Amino acid sequence: MSDKINILFTGATGYIGGAVLERLLKHPDASRFHIIAIVRSQEKAEKLKKLGIDVVVGSHSDAHTVRDAASKADVVFAVADADNLDAASAMMQGLKQRFEKTGKKSVLIHTSGTGTLTDKANGAFTYDKVYDDNDADQIETLSDDADHRHVDLLVLKADKDGYVKTHIVLPSTIYGIYSGKLVDLGIQNPHSVQIPKLIKLGKERGQAGMCGKGQNTWPHVHINDIADLYINLYDAIVANSPAPGHGREGYYFGENGHYRAGELAKAIAVELAAHGVGKDEPTTFTEEEFNKDPMVGYFGTNSRAKGSRARALGWKPKYTDKDFYASIKPEVNALLK
Ligand SMILES: NC(=O)c1ccc[n+]([C@@H]2O[C@H](COP(=O)([O-])OP(=O)(O)OC[C@H]3O[C@@H](n4cnc5c(N)ncnc54)[C@H](OP(=O)(O)O)[C@@H]3O)[C@@H](O)[C@H]2O)c1
Repeated sequence: MSDKINILFTGATGYIGGAVLERLLKHPDASRFHIIAIVRSQEKAEKLKKLGIDVVVGSHSDAHTVRDAASKADVVFAVADADNLDAASAMMQGLKQRFEKTGKKSVLIHTSGTGTLTDKANGAFTYDKVYDDNDADQIETLSDDADHRHVDLLVLKADKDGYVKTHIVLPSTIYGIYSGKLVDLGIQNPHSVQIPKLIKLGKERGQAGMCGKGQNTWPHVHINDIADLYINLYDAIVANSPAPGHGREGYYFGENGHYRAGELAKAIAVELAAHGVGKDEPTTFTEEEFNKDPMVGYFGTNSRAKGSRARALGWKPKYTDKDFYASIKPEVNALLK
């Protein structure tokens, strides 16, 4: 009997996914892994094949592709799109088929985000409520229409239905330009979402921006630390001693400190000003800007998280508040090149 572990991987070409995949390729058990990635780009697929990865070229909107791949997976790393309900649904159907056929429960490590904890502060205040990933009752107070929640609820139901063990990783504001083999090979996107978007908005409007007075607060985590969390979680699942929480007890927040939105906006303003873009003080996004781009309002929300369960796995994030602010200069330099 083959002792290969069939791993289905989504998001291999992405910022988080590429960093996690690189770690799987270097994992001590890598020789036992049979990794299958669903990738949209034929060119990137060819490059991944050269790294020993089996690739299905296709989109997650192709339910048949996702269902079929999931029906053969011992383990799934879903690191693509936290909001794609159809893809998640096809994934669960495939995992259910596998359970019904083999009696084996697969392991799912799904990616959500601490955006699910947000409010509508619009930059006016910081709230005191901090969500702890060890407190399942508190997490269950989230409303069904919270960000990412529609997919997370589907994932939680699958665990409750008993055909898969689900684990949800919730990164916060991930920062740092990723450097590694998959980036060098032109496979992986090296940039995160929120800070690059704020920099691009600042460039477009000629001045770094923030919502209100930037009093709202978010957690942050470095890309290397969050990628390590996926591996710590995987290793703990395999070691099974004790088995890490799954289902409603299977939330893992990726954070290593918090930042005020106004302080981030100020740091971006200073770096943009050094490139001749605006002054070194951010200004408030106008109502028109707020209405034009849904991401603008997002920058005014609070999200407060404590990764207790994540740390109980042995996860030891290394990058600090100082690293967070130090990451702004290279990010601005790269994006204004
Ligand atoms: N970055 C952050 O700070 C952060 C924080 C919290 C949560 N998250 C969430 O984590 C997820 C991944 O984020 P990321 O920063 O890694 O984003 P990213 O760099 O844009 O990566 C997204 C990945 O998903 C793939 N993908 C998306 N839709 C697909 C589809 N229909 N079919 C096939 N592949 C598809 C992309 O493939 P292509 O290369 O073909 O586009 C890419 O590999 C997102 O849902 C994001 O909201 C991110």
